Amino acid sequence: MRRACVIGAGAREHALAHVLSRTAEVVVVPGSAGMAADGLEVSDGSPLDVAAEFFVIGPEQPLVEGLADQLRASGRLVVGPGAQGARLEGSKSFMKEVLVDAGVPTARHGSFTDVARASGFIRALGGTVVVKTDGLAAGKGVLVTADLDEAITDATAKLDGSSFGAAGRRVVIEEGLVGGECTLLVLVDGDTAVPLAPARDYKRLRDGDTGPNTGGMGAVSPAPGVDDSLIATIMRESVEPTLAELRRRGIEYRGVLYAGVMLTADGPRLLEFNVRFGDPETQVVLPRLADDPYDLLCAVASGTLGEPPRFIGDAAVTVVLAAPGYPDAPSVGQVISGLGDDGQLVGHPEGVHVYHAATRRHGAGFVTAGGRAMSVTGLGASVREARARVYDAIGVIRFDGQQVRTDIAAVPAEVLS
Ligand code: AMP
Ligand code: GLY
Repeated sequence: MRRACVIGAGAREHALAHVLSRTAEVVVVPGSAGMAADGLEVSDGSPLDVAAEFFVIGPEQPLVEGLADQLRASGRLVVGPGAQGARLEGSKSFMKEVLVDAGVPTARHGSFTDVARASGFIRALGGTVVVKTDGLAAGKGVLVTADLDEAITDATAKLDGSSFGAAGRRVVIEEGLVGGECTLLVLVDGDTAVPLAPARDYKRLRDGDTGPNTGGMGAVSPAPGVDDSLIATIMRESVEPTLAELRRRGIEYRGVLYAGVMLTADGPRLLEFNVRFGDPETQVVLPRLADDPYDLLCAVASGTLGEPPRFIGDAAVTVVLAAPGYPDAPSVGQVISGLGDDGQLVGHPEGVHVYHAATRRHGAGFVTAGGRAMSVTGLGASVREARARVYDAIGVIRFDGQQVRTDIAAVPAEVLS
């Protein structure tokens, strides 16, 4: 059986399924109308009822809730850590504890449930401070500010549950670091860890890296300024010690470890680990894979990873089209023009693919159904070409109030390095 099951419904899962379907059968649970329109098999049932050689769990929530453990308990092969490993993302204070015990370079920080203590730590840190919800917040629970009163107000609203509910009842407060960012997605088969091509994610809502933090408004791969020696440093200083520390704690990690790194003047600093493929990083990393994606992910799930995979020299850029009001209160239901019946651009321009995140069928077309509606990827021989393709494509997709950054992948590599 050469058949994979991808679990999730977003643009990341659309990209995973699209890439896997190059060489194998794929079913996506629950998938989306946009994926079905794109010719992918989708199914509403429980993943536990699906027959597949291996399962890839896309989003963090089911990982934190233990879906990988459940699937493994029923004899399935899974790309994704069990609930214990997923705590790396499910609790930022747990992650920081592991980083400290593992000796991984990261920002100075403290973890708090009490407003007075949190405020005292903010004042003592001074400068730019960062206030993060301990629990899951879809990338939106982080405030970076040099205004200490704003930081205290934000920490107070998180701690009293008014801004992020239970996810904010504990906060991690840390010193603000300065530098370019990169995402390294690392495949881990329980023992061996191999990096994929680096990417850069654009987390702020508006051009020039301004506005609130979001789940990600675009991405580019390769990441500007990230060469093989930097990747080796991140593997040696951050990824390997973390995996060793997890092992020491009796936790086997099999899946994707997402390292979010800031490239500071003092070297790379680990900002966060996620326990899954990044969104939108997946939409630029996986389409560049030269090796067979099915064989690679099957090796992760079955514990037989070998050498790091190869990537084509080309570049990929993805740009997210978000609904009005995102990230605070997206309004949905806007009619999307420019897409054909198959949910792709009419005329299928070369090197471009639309990955649906939150859209719904509306007659022969689509309407928006959530904050980040779509992610459009362009592949090209260079970042410049990939970027031109994606922005040309986006120029024909329209819906009322759409929010799109115009500067994804615009900054030359030498400025960021
Ligand atoms: P996180 O969810 O922890 O990765 O944080 C989301 C984003 O907030 C990161 O991608 C950074 O842009 C920013 N950020 C997080 N931690 C820091 C920090 N210590 N210093 C500066 N920016 C940060
Ligand atoms: N792009 C950020 C994330 O996947 O968490």
